[in-house]
Amino acid sequence: MSFPQSFKAAIVPEPKAQNVISDRTLGPLKDDEVVIEILATAINPVDWKMRDYNAFITEYPAILGSDAAGRVVAVGSAVSGFAIGDRVFFQGIIGTYDSSTFQQYCKMPAALVAKTPDNISDEQAAGISLATMAAVTAFYDKEGYGLIPPWEKGGTEAGRGHAIVILGGASSVGQYAIQLARLSGFENVITNASSANFDLLRKLGAHVVLDRHQADAGSFAEAVQDTPLMFVFDAISVKATQILGVQILQATRTANSHVVTVHTVHPETTDQEAVALGQTHEFKVGIKQVLGVGSAPHLRYLSEPLARNLGEYIAKGQFIPNRTRVVPGGLTAVEQALSLNKEGVSGEKVVFCPSQE
Ligand SMILES: NC(=O)c1ccc[n+]([C@@H]2O[C@H](COP(=O)([O-])OP(=O)(O)OC[C@H]3O[C@@H](n4cnc5c(N)ncnc54)[C@H](OP(=O)(O)O)[C@@H]3O)[C@@H](O)[C@H]2O)c1
Repeated sequence: MSFPQSFKAAIVPEPKAQNVISDRTLGPLKDDEVVIEILATAINPVDWKMRDYNAFITEYPAILGSDAAGRVVAVGSAVSGFAIGDRVFFQGIIGTYDSSTFQQYCKMPAALVAKTPDNISDEQAAGISLATMAAVTAFYDKEGYGLIPPWEKGGTEAGRGHAIVILGGASSVGQYAIQLARLSGFENVITNASSANFDLLRKLGAHVVLDRHQADAGSFAEAVQDTPLMFVFDAISVKATQILGVQILQATRTANSHVVTVHTVHPETTDQEAVALGQTHEFKVGIKQVLGVGSAPHLRYLSEPLARNLGEYIAKGQFIPNRTRVVPGGLTAVEQALSLNKEGVSGEKVVFCPSQE
């Protein structure tokens, strides 16, 4: 298998502009890299936020997209464990255009690429890596809660005897967080969502799903019961959820804990009202924020073993991809796909297929 010198990419020519389809080529393949034909790529909020807020973009024309699946078409000389034709999925590298995914081919460090198991499609695989890495950073890195990851000794016992609250269980990040919580051994996984998503989240492993339009901190405290709460993970990280996270830790009188949030691009910082509220109680509640960029050198100790282990969790049915909504039209679907995510999705991942003509 080989790859063409020139291929199609969706390119943002200047700040805030719509994508246009254009030809481009990849830079030379490094020893530790693989070239991947991108068969499916998923939309994450960061994609349209990068354009709307001119964030993480270093130069124009820019290429968006950092969540994809495909097949290996070239292998660097120092790469072992990958062969031409392997099905793979991966988190692309935001701001590095040869490793962005709204194009037909990209190249990636092989260590950041996972093998796609036979029990899922490329469309399903495309929407796993980015949101999972956000939850992995929140749970296992010291910038988040700092638990032992499930692939390390003792990691499957890390949550033993404890409850965890995951706000926004139906979001992509939330769905993967619920499943990581189960892999980490939490005994009471409590989340919230709209009622239409209750069954989905229970199937993914949530023990209790509360109605996000009704449940307050008292409802969460009731759901915690006798299993001590370890921490709150806020997969949504807007003002209201950060405040709710603080209130839940206060209502459950949880000492030495904090709310872990995700960086949402805009606003960039944690909510100041929520931070202040956390200081009003006898048990002080801090708010932490994570950015799950797996290619960042300080997160490679998590992203590389994640890439080696995730396929096996999926093959065993311990980790289930988001439901997909595939937009037809190959690369030309890019703007419609971005709009669908921006307008709001519920429990599903918008995907398109760049290599489809
Ligand atoms: N820092 C990072 O590394 C990182 C990585 C990925 C994403 N993010 C950020 O994380 C956020 C979530 O991204 P995503 O792709 O997971 O989102 P998403 O899938 O687009 O989220 C949509 C879901 O959010 C739920 N939701 C919305 N408002 C809620 C609220 N107030 N309480 C509870 N649930 C709520 C909805 O649930 P129902 O349909 O059940 O109502 C809906 O299903 C975004 O701001 C994104 O930019 C950060």
